[in-house]
Amino acid sequence: MAPTGTLATVGLVHILVTGGAGFIGSNLVDLLLAEGHEVKVIDDLSTGRRSNLAHLEGSIEFHEGSILDVDLVSRIVEGTDLVFHLAAAVGVRNIIEAPLKSIRTNVDGTESVLDACVRHDTRVLLASTSEIYGKASKYPTSEDDDRVIGPTHVSRWSYSTSKALDEHLAFAYAAERGLRMSIVRYFNTYGPRLHENGYGSVVASMTAQALAGEPIVIHGDGKQTRCFGFVGDTIRGTYLAGTTEGALGQAFNIGTSTEISINELAERICRAAGSSSEISHISYDEAYGPGFEDPKRRVPDVTKAAEMLGWSPQVSLDEGLPITVEWWRNNNDHLVATR
Ligand SMILES: NC(=O)c1ccc[n+]([C@@H]2O[C@H](COP(=O)([O-])OP(=O)(O)OC[C@H]3O[C@@H](n4cnc5c(N)ncnc54)[C@H](O)[C@@H]3O)[C@@H](O)[C@H]2O)c1
Repeated sequence: MAPTGTLATVGLVHILVTGGAGFIGSNLVDLLLAEGHEVKVIDDLSTGRRSNLAHLEGSIEFHEGSILDVDLVSRIVEGTDLVFHLAAAVGVRNIIEAPLKSIRTNVDGTESVLDACVRHDTRVLLASTSEIYGKASKYPTSEDDDRVIGPTHVSRWSYSTSKALDEHLAFAYAAERGLRMSIVRYFNTYGPRLHENGYGSVVASMTAQALAGEPIVIHGDGKQTRCFGFVGDTIRGTYLAGTTEGALGQAFNIGTSTEISINELAERICRAAGSSSEISHISYDEAYGPGFEDPKRRVPDVTKAAEMLGWSPQVSLDEGLPITVEWWRNNNDHLVATR
């Protein structure tokens, strides 16, 4: 279901999507065009792909470049009414292998976007993550709950901290410089255009393994649980948070509260792919090196998004997985070597 025309009521039409060639960003661009908006994208194609936007050639303005390029960002933010800021260094594996680059992209890159938005009086929606809750203080986790983060020598926590610092920056720019901003915290999202480029997305790697008939490799005992949200729901929540007047200055969890173990996820993906792949387990140490920590659960409380945005997830895992698997089947270039 498409969101109701909140942009029309506040007169916003010119929109920039940072990270718009990525998985969630490119799906969001499709929605924005379908809603009749003019869309620009900036993306350095580090994990995003031009092919995600190939069907929109001529309909959007694409800038290949980095959000770390302050002058470029300022130039393309000028004249826009709204920025959806999704560009980020993502994925546990990327963060572990290149922590410095990830921290700089997420913190300096976000400040460059927020600063340009203040200077050009542009509203901004910041894409954050459930990772900011870390190991979480309670389940389901709501927006005001405490963050519980591991030690700084474990580099996976730098992603959580960098995205949390992005949020602090957004709140500080709002308080001190009048930035109009809202924040969404995505829990695990899957769907067409999901990729595995160093990302560590469990749905992506399992789908690739299932379709290739290779063993499905689970990290840990597989009893850890997650909640998987379909990208169509994610972008609808993003759009509403970015355009609803009452969402200004607020952060929203965007995800589903249906919890599933990783073992069960592997079985469902095999079923959706018609695959007879075996399911095997390796330790976190083997997968990521010593010291890796993974929360046992991650469950969002999405009451706030329901009450303030009128948003709730519509697509179940049983509906969304076959759509995702079908997309992978038809996009074989995304089937990367599995780990
Ligand atoms: N997919 C999920 O489950 C999930 C969960 C939580 C949060 N998020 C957040 O959602 C946003 C989008 O993530 P995604 O899953 O679509 O991943 P993605 O890798 O597909 O998208 C990120 C995009 O940002 C681009 N990018 C990276 N560094 C850049 C830079 N310096 N300049 C310009 N572009 C740059 C990449 O090329 C890519 O297109 C990110 O902010 C991420 O932190 C995603």
